[in-house]
Amino acid sequence: MSALSCKGLTVGYGDGAPVIADFDLDMEEGAVVALLGANGAGKTTLLRTLAGLQPVWSGHVLLDGRDLGRAPAEDRVRAGLALVPEGRSVVVELTVDENLRLGGLWRHRPRARRAAVEEMYALFPALERRRDAAGHTLSGGERQMLALARALLAGPSVLLLDEPSLGLAPQVTAQLLGVLRASAARTGMTVLLAEQNVTSALSVAHRGIVLSLGAVVADRPAADLVADPTLRHAYLGF
Ligand SMILES: Nc1ncnc2c1ncn2[C@@H]1O[C@H](COP(=O)(O)OP(=O)(O)O)[C@@H](O)[C@H]1O
Ligand SMILES: [Mg+2]
Repeated sequence: MSALSCKGLTVGYGDGAPVIADFDLDMEEGAVVALLGANGAGKTTLLRTLAGLQPVWSGHVLLDGRDLGRAPAEDRVRAGLALVPEGRSVVVELTVDENLRLGGLWRHRPRARRAAVEEMYALFPALERRRDAAGHTLSGGERQMLALARALLAGPSVLLLDEPSLGLAPQVTAQLLGVLRASAARTGMTVLLAEQNVTSALSVAHRGIVLSLGAVVADRPAADLVADPTLRHAYLGF
């Protein structure tokens, strides 16, 4: 059974034309899929719709075979979905450790909560070094790591990430996506990674989907996409 799938998904804003039209997706458990496309292609709209933050016009969103396309966001979180939105949302007044403890609050036993936070420090040594630093003093890369670590604390089965590399130095992006890939491989989590940074995204993804004006123009193994000059020039910009 697919971990996440969509059938005929159509979404838009107000009474405008649909931004995502008749979109189909099938992600088997453990798949890491890059969602590519230029600015305005509809990546954020799609991720927000999957997470339940944007109403579906028509079509279906299935998580582990259950149609949750009209379910509230919190039901989807309970079903194992997590979204790391664009913009590295962390609580800037709190320290790294406090942010992580909040992310682990749903674990009722303090010892289990602490162990989960320590596990995140093992994944992100850069965060451990900054555990007592306030959120507002973190670099962009540290903030993005913290946002990702908070999402991972929930132990999601499906993780949606919206342009985590935006504004990060290449080596920081590589480090972040490396942790993401390792953590997906270890837990069997399914990942949908929206990125404009095509090379980085395809270096960690098994498969790439290229969106253009809300429609899928390619859905292929990552290595194929990198190797196809026509597609690269037309949609990926390199
Ligand atoms: N809140 C909104 N209201 C109206 N139109 C929007 C809104 N958010 C995004 N759009 C439009 O939807 C389209 C897709 O945007 P978006 O999903 O943000 O694409 P991407 O994340 O790929 O850059 C764009 O044409 C954008 O202008
Ligand atoms: Mg976007």
